[in-house]
Amino acid sequence: MTINVAPLLNVGVPTVPRKSVSTYVVTGCAGFIGSHLCEALLDRGDDVIGIDAFTDYYPRELKEANLQHLTGRPGFVFIEEDLVRAPIEALATGTNGIFHLAAQPGVRGSWGATFQVYAHDNLLASQHVFEAATGAGVRVVFASSSSIYGNAEGYPTTEDTPPSPVSPYGVTKLCCEHLAGAYAESKDLDYIALRYFTVYGPRQRPDMALCRIATALADGGRFEVYGSGEQSRDVTYVEDAVRATIATMEAAPSGAVYNVGGGSETSLREIIQIAESLTGRSLDAHYGSPAVGDVRRTAADTSRIYADVGWSPMTSLEDGIASQLAWVMSRDVSSRSPAYSG
Ligand code: NAD
Ligand code: UGA
Repeated sequence: MTINVAPLLNVGVPTVPRKSVSTYVVTGCAGFIGSHLCEALLDRGDDVIGIDAFTDYYPRELKEANLQHLTGRPGFVFIEEDLVRAPIEALATGTNGIFHLAAQPGVRGSWGATFQVYAHDNLLASQHVFEAATGAGVRVVFASSSSIYGNAEGYPTTEDTPPSPVSPYGVTKLCCEHLAGAYAESKDLDYIALRYFTVYGPRQRPDMALCRIATALADGGRFEVYGSGEQSRDVTYVEDAVRATIATMEAAPSGAVYNVGGGSETSLREIIQIAESLTGRSLDAHYGSPAVGDVRRTAADTSRIYADVGWSPMTSLEDGIASQLAWVMSRDVSSRSPAYSG
């Protein structure tokens, strides 16, 4: 199938006619996880209509570098537009579904005046996507977050655990899940919500811990530890997260909510130790106050997604960290310095 989006957008978009397996819309395609997802879809022979607004949370050059893995590939069309304005329903009509990954991510920066950005990029944008998916009659797989659990009642945390977010970001993600549920109940939206647990790997966002650790090890800079370093995360390698995302689009029952976790709860101190031993370098770590809105630990029970679609994580923590370190070390110094200080 070849979708000609040019008339919808009044732009000259070259579409190379070819026999694709499926066609998907991917929001947030220039981001960390979204760019990997698009690559995996194109590798399978699917066509992808990618949308991204290049929001300024981190430098545009990093997102353009992510996109370089996609532009020019047969079957990929890129649209630079804010989801709140984009003609998503028209773009999605006739496709096999929408992967909705675009968002304002980041837990710690979601307080104060910045919440306006979270309200726009998470709440308003997702409402527009859910409305469009309903109109187009296509499935939407929505990128939710482990942050909806807050400091969860039980570990490993099942999807039935009462949500109790402790950051405004987590509240917006939970609100989006409820919004999708309301569209499903009242307007037959076909949706899946995936609660990703701290995703890492090449192209990870520059505000995230492992990207900063790897950059500090590469360049000899400092790493600020928020708190004692005893906080732990069930970290998920990006290729595993992408496999779960595609599998649920294809095979999960409508309305399902799944944890997507890497299966190895690890403290920040342990992550630092692994990165140090893989590089043979010592991290200049400075310990300060815990970040407001940070959870103490996360651990995903992934038995539901395994039972429904057969997904389980496949990448070991050491292999995943080694892969991210290799990516950071391979970039030139100017492009790997995190400009974001939140
Ligand atoms: P990212 O910031 O790298 O990617 C998000 C992309 O969405 C960005 O390129 C941004 O420009 C785009 N975007 C934001 N608002 C937009 C709008 N209104 N219109 C169009 N484009 C817009 O983030 P990521 O780490 O790849 O996360 C992807 C998704 O997964 C997000 O929804 C995030 O909340 C969720 N998530 C991520 C993690 C993680 O560990 N990275 C964990 C849990 C959930
Ligand atoms: C990550 C993503 O950033 C969120 O977008 C996502 O929603 C969330 O995972 C999730 O799983 O739902 P987080 O777990 O906080 O959030 O991941 P990191 O940003 O990598 O932080 C991990 C830990 O390292 C946190 O305790 C954080 O406070 C700490 N950290 C981070 C530091 O000590 N120093 C830093 O410079 C950065």
